[in-house]
Amino acid sequence: MQSTDLDRSIVETAYARWAPIYDAVCGPVMVNGRRAAAKAARATGGRILEVGVGTGLSFDDYDASTEIIGIDLSAPMLAKARERMASGRYPYVKDVRLMDAHRMAFADATFDCVVAQFVITLVAHPEQVLSECHRVVKPGGRIILVNHLYSEKGVAAAVERWAAQRTRGLGLRPEFPFARLQAWAHANNDAILVERRKVAPFGIYTLVCFERAVSSAA
Ligand SMILES: C[S@@+](CC[C@H](N)C(=O)[O-])C[C@H]1O[C@@H](n2cnc3c(N)ncnc32)[C@H](O)[C@@H]1O
Repeated sequence: MQSTDLDRSIVETAYARWAPIYDAVCGPVMVNGRRAAAKAARATGGRILEVGVGTGLSFDDYDASTEIIGIDLSAPMLAKARERMASGRYPYVKDVRLMDAHRMAFADATFDCVVAQFVITLVAHPEQVLSECHRVVKPGGRIILVNHLYSEKGVAAAVERWAAQRTRGLGLRPEFPFARLQAWAHANNDAILVERRKVAPFGIYTLVCFERAVSSAA
């Protein structure tokens, strides 16, 4: 399958357009995936980094047992997240910052858990972002991803291939294969794939969890 990654300017332009309508359109459609990822992150607990935090729709899925820091490339999306924080309902959300996930301004081993909900398939260099997530998570900590992943075969795969070129400008990427995440983990001895499962009820989204080996250097 021929496929190219999205570049940064496409993502920034797309999410500047999405920001005013994002919650109404993507809130309900992606809620199950978002909740599943946050639940898995809560099980790890502690200090959690949300990569591509967007408008902060996930804030409701955490509680005071955690400390949330979010980053995003899109200033208009982050402005919405800051409005949420200003409501005072999310004291456990400590900060949201404009930051590119390819080059994070965090020290190694800063977080207990890194979560990326509907993000890894649309960043310009997914393997580089995974390596950054791996760098900033503590040994024994987890990276939790949730996304629609490429169906690989059948009618769904054909539809996704067809949609791929038509949805680029929207900052979407329906034809991203799991094999790419797996290949990244194989190339990193310290990254262990601990879970891959479809999210109920419809199985449209896949939750993938990597653990940073405890033996890895902090
Ligand atoms: C589909 S939205 C998901 C937002 C949120 N995680 C949610 O579940 O609603 C993807 C988000 O990833 C952000 N993003 C894309 N590339 C990024 C990058 N390189 N660094 C940080 N954020 C990025 C976009 O700006 C956008 O806010």
